[in-house]
Amino acid sequence: ASLKPYNTFGLEAAAAFLTTISSVEDLSELVNLPDFEEKQSLVLGGGSNLLLTQDFDGMVIKNEIKGIHSINETDEHIWLKVGGGEVWHDFVMYCVNQGYGGVENLSLIPGTVGAAPMQNIGAYGIEIKDVFDSLEAFNWQTGAIETFDNPTCGFGYRESIFKHSHKGKYFIVNVTFKLKKRPELNIEYGAIQTTLADMGITNPTIKDVSRAVITIRQSKLPDPKEIGNSGSFFKNPVISKALFIKIQEKYDNVPSYPIDDENVKIPAGWMIEKAGWKGYRRGDIGVHKNQALVLVNYGNGSGLEIKKLSEEIIASVFENFGVNLQPEVNII
Ligand code: EPU
Repeated sequence: ASLKPYNTFGLEAAAAFLTTISSVEDLSELVNLPDFEEKQSLVLGGGSNLLLTQDFDGMVIKNEIKGIHSINETDEHIWLKVGGGEVWHDFVMYCVNQGYGGVENLSLIPGTVGAAPMQNIGAYGIEIKDVFDSLEAFNWQTGAIETFDNPTCGFGYRESIFKHSHKGKYFIVNVTFKLKKRPELNIEYGAIQTTLADMGITNPTIKDVSRAVITIRQSKLPDPKEIGNSGSFFKNPVISKALFIKIQEKYDNVPSYPIDDENVKIPAGWMIEKAGWKGYRRGDIGVHKNQALVLVNYGNGSGLEIKKLSEEIIASVFENFGVNLQPEVNII
């Protein structure tokens, strides 16, 4: 089966087998198949954080478990249990329309609910860990459903145990979020404030914040339906203050986010732009013209070409800044 419709980079790659899962029963049936091997499987959400560089000689499993259910409610909070196959942005829109606060800053992030905790998705000052209560996951080995609470998931910046010790061992069935019925907005991020001001809004609601975030993302990030991409290709690196000072000697107005006394985080997109890559194009692949952190496929690019370009960018940023970039996407 072709995986082209299932990855937002729009890359051509074949999977030996492709199956969809709509319920826990489907999972039990799948593991009972005589030749099923979980090591030879790849779980797909929206395919929005994936760089396919070759055919996949195993089974690709698409999560299509749906549903949004309230499982608990107080005056302050509501707990929503959401199927892992729900589209993330649709879930955000549901919350925004119901007046449940906490995920409005995460509007328009591609992908599914089940994939979101894997890398603790985040944007504009919020990460999923801020609203995450727990998740239920199917253990491929034992066939049991296990519950993971917030601390157990080991969330960090674009990190969770599901990318490390628990990699490939679980299928995320559903995620429970704890949302605020009396929303408290997080609008510290500069672009949200200027966008709200441009919209003429002085007393924003969560709907307004969501709309502002959508406006910002649409102005900077390519729509995968038009230009293949998987959002930020690299993580923003944490560097020592000593190295940061060296960079400041070479460049004016270096953007940064504080981490602790010894370290700062520096936007990879800024370094890639300064190294001259923004808007670069070679054949059908390149670096997005409005956001240098995003690599793009204009149509017929290959995963290997994108991987090669990413390695050239890593080398170039290292040469210019002494900083080693790490990919954020999963390279298969
Ligand atoms: N910048 C440049 N040139 C560029 C891109 C960025 O100079 O080409 C500068 C900007 O001017 C700004 C700074 O870098 O001073 C930060 O840029 P931006 O606010 O666009 O965010 P980012 O750090 O590049 C991160 C996330 C995004 C998230 C935004 C907003 C990572 C790897 N990426 O990008 O997440 O939407 O912040 O919170 O942390 C994603 O993960 O796929 C993603 C899009």
